[in-house]
Amino acid sequence: MQVVTSVAAMQRLAKKWQRAGIKIALVPTMGYLHAGHLSLIKRARRLVGKKGQVAVSIYVNPTQFGPKEDLAHYPRDLKRDLKLCRCEGVDVVFVPGDEEMYPGRRESSSAKKSLGSTESRPTQNDFSTYVVEETLSRVMEGASRPGHFRGVTTVVAKLFNIVQPNVAVFGAKDFQQAAVIQRMTRDLNFPVKIDIASTFREPDGLAMSSRNKYLEGDLRRQGIVLWRAIQRAQALVKKSSIPAGRLRADLKKLIESQPTPKLDYVEFFDPETLNPVARVTRGTHMALAVFVGQARLIDNARL
Ligand code: PAJ
Repeated sequence: MQVVTSVAAMQRLAKKWQRAGIKIALVPTMGYLHAGHLSLIKRARRLVGKKGQVAVSIYVNPTQFGPKEDLAHYPRDLKRDLKLCRCEGVDVVFVPGDEEMYPGRRESSSAKKSLGSTESRPTQNDFSTYVVEETLSRVMEGASRPGHFRGVTTVVAKLFNIVQPNVAVFGAKDFQQAAVIQRMTRDLNFPVKIDIASTFREPDGLAMSSRNKYLEGDLRRQGIVLWRAIQRAQALVKKSSIPAGRLRADLKKLIESQPTPKLDYVEFFDPETLNPVARVTRGTHMALAVFVGQARLIDNARL
């Protein structure tokens, strides 16, 4: 297994494979790998076969975190991640540093001010091009986390240009992210097939996530409220359609009946357009975000 840290070296490798007609599958991640990530890697291998190359990128992308979010605390364990990739038969792990991905990028001046910078004149920002999807990014995660999807689409576009995959695998766990990336890929004509893998869960239903590390003690148990809310919605919708407002109020009550969880949003929408529906029926998609202590958890499912 090769571990590549430079953009130029990764591009050289990718060009060599492309010229030889070898298929490349990319699994982009932020590391701290869990069984959900590993299911994506297995899928990537199946998609390109033994002769293909499976590339995993591990990069905690700073541009998709808001100034008050958990970038500094995001869990990391590169040694363990590399071991897991080796066990899965990954061919190349791309692990760039910040200077490699965003050479010359400076924090915005307002973020700097809040960090107590005493610089009188702002230094030149040498990274100034971003990719912005303007429709699907506006709702849910996009509304709660301004700038988040701009960071995601920018880094994924860069990874596509660096790794040059024929196919890239994303998880349905981040349903909106997958939809935004599919739209970007289509709109900007990236020659990449987007493959979506289903959500991998713990035995009690909690969707696997690197952020589950934040769920210490009793919070781990309370973390299953997202799955319980999804199951309740599925059971109710099976009987009859329900006005979205009524279902939202019902689920908020369920979620906040536990001591810690606070609902950020729960939305019911058309899975193609992400447009909200007035009445929730079978086939409507549901997504929610819940604060459980310092962890912000998300989940979604088709009802
Ligand atoms: P990360 O949260 O590390 O997730 C990497 C990929 O794994 C994403 O496609 C995500 O949807 C998928 N994934 C996470 N948990 C999963 C689960 N329980 N079941 C199935 N798939 C799961 O998502 C990101 O990183 C970043 O935004 C990234 C796309 C890498 C861009 O920085």
